[in-house]
Amino acid sequence: MAILVTGGTGYIGSHTCVELQNAGYDVVVLDNLANSSEKSLERVKAITGKDIKFYKGDIRDRKILKEIFENEKIDSCIHFAGLKAVGESVEKPWEYYDNNITGTLTLVDEMRKHGVKNIIFSSSATVYGDPAEIPITEECPKGQCTNPYGWTKSMLEQILSDMQKADNEWNVVILRYFNPIGAHKSGTMGENPNGIPNNLMPYITQVAVGKREELGVFGDDYDTPDGTGVRDYIHVVDLADGHVKALKKIEEKAGLCIYNLGTGTGYSVLDIVKNFEEANDLKIPYSIKPRRAGDIATCYADPSKAKRELGWEAKFGIKEMCADSWRWQKNNPNGYDD
Ligand code: NAD
Ligand code: UD1
Repeated sequence: MAILVTGGTGYIGSHTCVELQNAGYDVVVLDNLANSSEKSLERVKAITGKDIKFYKGDIRDRKILKEIFENEKIDSCIHFAGLKAVGESVEKPWEYYDNNITGTLTLVDEMRKHGVKNIIFSSSATVYGDPAEIPITEECPKGQCTNPYGWTKSMLEQILSDMQKADNEWNVVILRYFNPIGAHKSGTMGENPNGIPNNLMPYITQVAVGKREELGVFGDDYDTPDGTGVRDYIHVVDLADGHVKALKKIEEKAGLCIYNLGTGTGYSVLDIVKNFEEANDLKIPYSIKPRRAGDIATCYADPSKAKRELGWEAKFGIKEMCADSWRWQKNNPNGYDD
């Protein structure tokens, strides 16, 4: 039996393919390469020594989904495919709702038509909005999202939950990621953002490699120990491992489950700069800029439910996250375009 990984050439998807293959699963990837390169799968294969079946196509395309479900023995789907740029989603809401929501509705419809009713869905801590409690447990009520991207995650959680309630043959595991950073230890795989990075770590690594002059720190007047935003950064390989553990849960007939995937520790922007500098013996010039619209002060997880129910917990610390992010960027200044 094989696992269908949608969005499997992307940042988290490609790292998950490595962990799935290492755990003995056969992997089939579907990706339209909207935000990724097929080369990531060459790197996956070089690490694991195993082959991956790749379909270049869109999750909204019923024809290719039908072809996959008819030709491959798919048991479960790990669904990463989606657009994820917060700012772009504000400018192009229709494109985001169509890609993420129509895409997922089409995927799950073809899944059920072919008797595949196991799905792991990539959600985000963004569904908590400005969280009602810190650390954030899964019981924390979902909040108001500040952008269409966040709403697609919140709505898709609702849609998948309702489907599972109506048909308990479905096993739906919703994973709410906190802030994934880091890269595979080999330095051959990592995050490959298009254009100017929106997220903190890729911006820092691009400053380190000389592509950007300095980091802008968005606000130093938050109610946090040093005034800068606090987040729960998690190593992408730990996150990938969380998916392997979630698959085991699905094999035990999970029903509907929701888990936070975070470390439980919050670091400020300046903590990250300091740890990056120390881990890599580098200086990161920065200056304080105004707050970024939609940002919150503090967001970190209570990850104890995933530990209790999945036997999963993050293993890598912040120094490893910083060292691994930098190794990837240093070895591949232009990402997969080298
Ligand atoms: P990514 O952009 O690297 O990967 C997403 C992949 O999906 C890309 O390879 C892209 O080409 C593909 N894709 C997009 N639309 C598609 C479509 N219609 N059909 C087929 N393929 C399509 O992003 P990532 O960081 O690896 O994120 C993976 C998932 O995790 C996304 O759903 C994202 O929203 C979610 N997530 C990411 C983060 C993060 O910080 N990276 C945090 C929380 C949640
Ligand atoms: C962002 C998204 C969120 C998404 C998450 C993971 C927004 C408002 N939220 O969250 O929906 O799920 O990424 O992909 O974009 N920072 C700087 N300078 C920079 C970049 C970031 O100071 O150049 C700060 C931010 O203000 C924040 C922290 O670094 O305090 C982390 O930012 P980022 O990596 O963008 O993640 P989030 O804002 O947590």
